[in-house]
Amino acid sequence: MKTMRATVFHGVNDLRVEEVRRPHAGVGDAVIRVTLTTICGTDLHILRGEYPVKPGLIIGHEPVGVIEELGPGVTGYEIGQRVLVGAITPCGQCCACLSGHLSQCGHGGGYEAIGGWRFGNTLNGAQAEYLLVPSAQANLAKIPATLTDEQAVLLADIASTGLSGAEAAPVRIGDAVVVFAQGPIGLCATAGAKLMGASLIIGVDGDESRLAMARRMGADVALNYRAVDVVAEVKRLTGGGADVAIEAFGAQQTFENALRSLRPGGTLSSLGVYSGKLQMPYDAFAAGIGDHRIVTTLCPGGKERMRRLLTLVQSGRFDPTPLLTHRFSLNDIGKAYELFGSRTDGVLKVAIKP
Ligand SMILES: NC(=O)c1ccc[n+]([C@@H]2O[C@H](COP(=O)([O-])OP(=O)(O)OC[C@H]3O[C@@H](n4cnc5c(N)ncnc54)[C@H](O)[C@@H]3O)[C@@H](O)[C@H]2O)c1
Ligand SMILES: [Zn+2]
Ligand SMILES: [Zn+2]
Repeated sequence: MKTMRATVFHGVNDLRVEEVRRPHAGVGDAVIRVTLTTICGTDLHILRGEYPVKPGLIIGHEPVGVIEELGPGVTGYEIGQRVLVGAITPCGQCCACLSGHLSQCGHGGGYEAIGGWRFGNTLNGAQAEYLLVPSAQANLAKIPATLTDEQAVLLADIASTGLSGAEAAPVRIGDAVVVFAQGPIGLCATAGAKLMGASLIIGVDGDESRLAMARRMGADVALNYRAVDVVAEVKRLTGGGADVAIEAFGAQQTFENALRSLRPGGTLSSLGVYSGKLQMPYDAFAAGIGDHRIVTTLCPGGKERMRRLLTLVQSGRFDPTPLLTHRFSLNDIGKAYELFGSRTDGVLKVAIKP
């Protein structure tokens, strides 16, 4: 039996790198040898017990690798090709996929909420030496030879998600946009607002190094929520409220601030993963008749989304690499989780090399 090293979730605050059985490709699957992966804020939610997954699961959902095995039925690829696989792996065949809701994929059936998120959620994930990719035909995106693994790895999730926060609103040319939280997701949402043509972008966080990065990613104004009344300041800067407020943290306070920052008729584009109860104060929502829109987005995946993001990086219009601040081997992933979770030493994203 062939084995591999993998990061296994055993319970709350209990992750272990251990030797497990290596996957093999069945019909429609591929196996990739992972050459680079990373840790997501959502993995921290899992580790802390805020998002439940089954003990024994390999976690992680951001893989770059090389094709090791192709199952029957997967065509147009060769062993040894470098590929990026999105965090979300739609089947491309079900009602949800064929209606354009790839992230809510029902894997052959109808719709399943969050159903497209399988790696490190309902299937073994990417923080391992090898990864089984389901629905490979829809999910293997070839990486152009001119791009490095580090240029590609953040596209699987945080860039796809962050940029989608601006796309989903949608941000229109000339909009004033405020982005609540400038973690990796919020920073990519800031970059997305710029790519979509916003004329004013306000980034909000409580960490000065992240606010500095927000300016680098396209924010015109960076507000520290610990120092200023953010809602009042957004209203002042925008002359009454933002056209779009992007929520990129996943908490009552940021959700509510985003809603309160909007002009009537504005759009709240929500990306955060919430837990517990989320409440909507009627006054911030104009008692339900303020023509507000609230849209939520799960990271867009599939090989066409990944191809588009790869071309975006190739064109020089978007560079995710400043967000990759630290590097670890898979064996040291425990240290990487500690650093990433503590948000110290200017950490934004950690590259993990199996
Ligand atoms: N929608 C999706 O598909 C998707 C995908 C990946 C991650 N997520 C979620 O997105 C969220 C953000 O992820 P991340 O990796 O960027 O997180 P992160 O924890 O690295 O960053 C969060 C940031 O929020 C800031 N913050 C905390 N309280 C704040 C407040 N009151 N106002 C403004 N800023 C505040 C922190 O200083 C930090 O910089 C998480 O909930 C994560 O689970 C969603
Ligand atoms: Zn994620
Ligand atoms: Zn599907």
